[in-house]
Amino acid sequence: MQNGKIIAIANQKGGVGKTTTALNLAYVLSEQGKKVLLVDVDPQSNLTMCFGVDRPEELDTTIYHLMMAVIEERELPDKNKYIISNGNIDLIPCSIELSAVEVNLVNAMSREITLRTILQNLRKDYDYIIIDCMPSLGMLTINALAACDSVLITATPQYLSAKGLELLLRTIIKVKKRINPNIEIDGILITMFTDRTILSREILNLINEAYGKQIRIFENKIPSSIKVGESNLKSKSIIEYQPNNKVAIAYNEFTKEYIKNE
Ligand SMILES: Nc1ncnc2c1ncn2[C@@H]1O[C@H](COP(=O)(O)OP(=O)(O)OP(=O)(O)O)[C@@H](O)[C@H]1O
Ligand SMILES: [Mg+2]
Repeated sequence: MQNGKIIAIANQKGGVGKTTTALNLAYVLSEQGKKVLLVDVDPQSNLTMCFGVDRPEELDTTIYHLMMAVIEERELPDKNKYIISNGNIDLIPCSIELSAVEVNLVNAMSREITLRTILQNLRKDYDYIIIDCMPSLGMLTINALAACDSVLITATPQYLSAKGLELLLRTIIKVKKRINPNIEIDGILITMFTDRTILSREILNLINEAYGKQIRIFENKIPSSIKVGESNLKSKSIIEYQPNNKVAIAYNEFTKEYIKNE
């Protein structure tokens, strides 16, 4: 197998569909026979819980332990000690302990490339590695940006109107200059889009004006549905939970669009 593509799903704004997109993109890709690894790099551990782990704090080995091993220059444990599998999808889980890693990163030699060191070893085993970032631009997100080939930005229409993307874009450019020259921005996926409201459409026009020329905005947008929350609670992708739901259909279509130009 060739080296897989590493994708970071990022936005320092909370609640804009990063985790939901990570889970559903992974699911659609796995349905197409791709081998996918999800990496939870958010101490909130939402992705880990969506994967069916009810008590992440009881896990023996999480991304925290792997990052600490790299920082302290210890050998990494065996894959079977930390990877959790569900069908074709694997997960490196996370727990609240990860919040302690940022402090340890500050003085570490490898502070920006700790995650990259871990993922480079796993890359050969997967078609896609998808990193779910936390809502901040701190060291954990910098590590994700340093480790990835490309960034997928998720954003709600409301957030885009606040021009909050600029800081994220500036951070990505900084990482590109200093640490990861090959990083690309895949584009912006609009989530929780309510087409019927004039507001959403106006905002979409604004985004196209502000960013459209330099950054791709995916044609397919993810609508809102209360079923998404339900599916998360059931530890299922929306596609498994309710395949005919508009959000399930949208994630299927978005994934086609996403991988078309690869
Ligand atoms: N398309 C959607 N329609 C309705 N609700 C959604 C949709 N996508 C996500 N949600 C809900 O919105 C909330 C935030 O989504 P999600 O956790 O994916 O965002 P996030 O960006 O990962 O958040 P955080 O920054 O806190 O990690 C969740 O409760 C989720 O169930
Ligand atoms: Mg999240």
